[in-house]
Amino acid sequence: MSEVVSYELNENIGVIRVNNPPVNALAQVVREGILNAVTEAQNDGSEAIVLACEGRTFIAGADITEFGKPPRDPWLPEVLSAIENSSKPVVAAIHGTALGGGFEVALACHYRCAVPSAKVGLPEVKLGLLPGAGGTQRVPRVAGVKAALEMITSGNPVAASKARDMGLIDEVLGDEDVCAGAIQYAKSLIQSDAPLKRIRDITIDASSIEPDFFANARKQLARRARGQIAQDRIVSCLEAAVELPMDEGLERERELFKELVSSPESAAMRHIFFAERQAAKIKDVPKDTPLRPINKVAILGGGTMGGGIAMCFANVGIPVVMLEINDEALERGMGIIRKNYTITVQKGKLAEDKMEDRIALISGTTSYDDIGDVDLVIEAVFENLDLKKEVFGKLDAACKQGAILATNTSYQDVDAIAEATSRPEDVVGMHFFSPANVMKLLEVVRGAKTADDVLATVMQIGKKIGKVCALSGVCYGFIGNRMLGGYGREAQMLLMDGCTPAQVDGALEGFGMAMGPLAMGDLAGLDVGYKARQARTDLPDDPKLYRMGTLLVEMGRHGQKTGSGFYKYDPETRKRMSDPEVEALIKEEAAKLNIEQRAISDEEILARCFYPLINEGAKILEEGIAQRASDIDVVYIYGYAFPVAKGGPMHYADSVGLKKVYDKICEFRDRYGEEYWQPAPLLQQLAEQGKSFAQWDKERGAA
Ligand SMILES: NC(=O)c1ccc[n+]([C@@H]2O[C@H](COP(=O)([O-])OP(=O)(O)OC[C@H]3O[C@@H](n4cnc5c(N)ncnc54)[C@H](O)[C@@H]3O)[C@@H](O)[C@H]2O)c1
Repeated sequence: MSEVVSYELNENIGVIRVNNPPVNALAQVVREGILNAVTEAQNDGSEAIVLACEGRTFIAGADITEFGKPPRDPWLPEVLSAIENSSKPVVAAIHGTALGGGFEVALACHYRCAVPSAKVGLPEVKLGLLPGAGGTQRVPRVAGVKAALEMITSGNPVAASKARDMGLIDEVLGDEDVCAGAIQYAKSLIQSDAPLKRIRDITIDASSIEPDFFANARKQLARRARGQIAQDRIVSCLEAAVELPMDEGLERERELFKELVSSPESAAMRHIFFAERQAAKIKDVPKDTPLRPINKVAILGGGTMGGGIAMCFANVGIPVVMLEINDEALERGMGIIRKNYTITVQKGKLAEDKMEDRIALISGTTSYDDIGDVDLVIEAVFENLDLKKEVFGKLDAACKQGAILATNTSYQDVDAIAEATSRPEDVVGMHFFSPANVMKLLEVVRGAKTADDVLATVMQIGKKIGKVCALSGVCYGFIGNRMLGGYGREAQMLLMDGCTPAQVDGALEGFGMAMGPLAMGDLAGLDVGYKARQARTDLPDDPKLYRMGTLLVEMGRHGQKTGSGFYKYDPETRKRMSDPEVEALIKEEAAKLNIEQRAISDEEILARCFYPLINEGAKILEEGIAQRASDIDVVYIYGYAFPVAKGGPMHYADSVGLKKVYDKICEFRDRYGEEYWQPAPLLQQLAEQGKSFAQWDKERGAA
């Protein structure tokens, strides 16, 4: 046999074992090995065949490094046919996770058994794909169309016992070695003269499916798709499973798989898949940097952010002390935490006793004496540099040597904060996003003196609490918020030029943003930006600039919390509605400033709002604030709900073409002024060289 697939006879059972660490991915050698083994087993003394895997898991999926390369024989469908057409029963022995192509291999077997801890699933949709080796045809045949729709469009794995209830697994074994259990199971099949059960032979009863089932499914999925197309194609495959014979259904599945594999949406999602893993790596911090143990954490400030951050640690069993200014503030903070957990319990996502366990891990104090023993402090007090410096001075005096002192500041200078201590090497930024217990992004901010082991530890603890981490250098707003400046500015400038708020947000939401910038302003509170602008001295003196945002705040329209902002809101449902009063006001203000309003296309809205993001991203790259363009994409996908099907702003720029982006920015500069539109030198350079940000990343090498 091959190096990665072995075959041997164990009495009357032929045993195929795959050994392709770390996850037994379906590389070409694995496919070939299985095919050869099944072929050999047809002509030996075996009466049944067991397919099992070594190591920690059953086949956990395709070898994604093969994506985009020319296919190499044998194709997976050929291997599956050989299994399905075997004259002797083939039993899949599942442990760990049988995912994607791995689960499709199992589905081609005549029987599936699994240990109780095993999971099965078809996660292809998460990469903008669909299961292309029969998954969409076989799952509905055994589990029903409705269950198949849920499983394949969510991509979420299913535990062994549930998979048995769904019919996807025939037998949940005891806790014994999976291969030994499967051999016993195969013997029992031989003894009972069990038939060769082929899923392909099952016909779905079309009359059992409501006539509008697929149309409704499409509608529901479209609401969440945000530019993704895979879900829609999965519905088409399931329709084919109902309407067409197996082989034609498989053909349809293959066709749609091919469409997706070469689609820009899937390319974007695969880009993010790799980018996310890269982002956690710091280029000049060695992989084997020793980590500091983090067994207890203190959070300073139990407000909006502090409470959410405390929950992140309690959720993974790490005790937290929350320090507040007085008992009242502490009680308020603990109350919010309890309320948030209660909502999770009500949604059925957390058991009540688990909630109590987690809350019990969070204690409160008003004294620095109680945080002397913690390994990590995260400061989330008011956004004020003097206050933060004072707090860090106190931390320096109170905390043990070696404790990591982190700040969750959004805009303040991490180096200035570090200098308020005698140990700037222990100081780092941990910039969470609101709501901190939900949002996946953690920007890790490296100060001028932050020690390597502090960075490595924070990256690791970030991962432990379920965050996607990206490294940022010190600058105003770090990667994400710094880039946002021009985006929000242009959204408001477009109003002056002739757009309604609904048109601006509509174009960006049509692109796939979860919420347009004006609606987002209403949600966050227009007064927040207003106050921030008042504190700035670097803004051009231009009456157009943020004119509507400023006027609305002065009229008492602070956004959702006051019932109106750029929009008005239904007091009961909070549904946003266009407000003719605002639209008239925009026209009036434009007239006052002699701005001739005009019709503006969605294309211009996208360019005006996104190109400043991209341009600032290029500056951030050349200044070394971000390590890679792909890190910036990760920041925007996980922190700002940029649509994953577009791959983040830098990937999006690459897909448009940097020359085109650059030329447009020059055009905007000539039209709207240099103070707003100044092309980044790196963007100009790449545009002139005909290069992309992806190439720029590649030339600088992986970590
Ligand atoms: N709200 C966001 O969306 C967001 C997002 C990322 C980062 N941040 C940053 O997080 C920090 C906190 O923001 P927030 O929105 O949670 O503010 P917040 O006003 O909701 O909470 C701040 C809390 O800090 C407490 N506090 C003030 N001084 C303190 C002190 N000396 N010691 C202990 N506690 C003290 C206050 O009582 C209050 O409960 C800020 O630096 C902010 O920029 C906020």
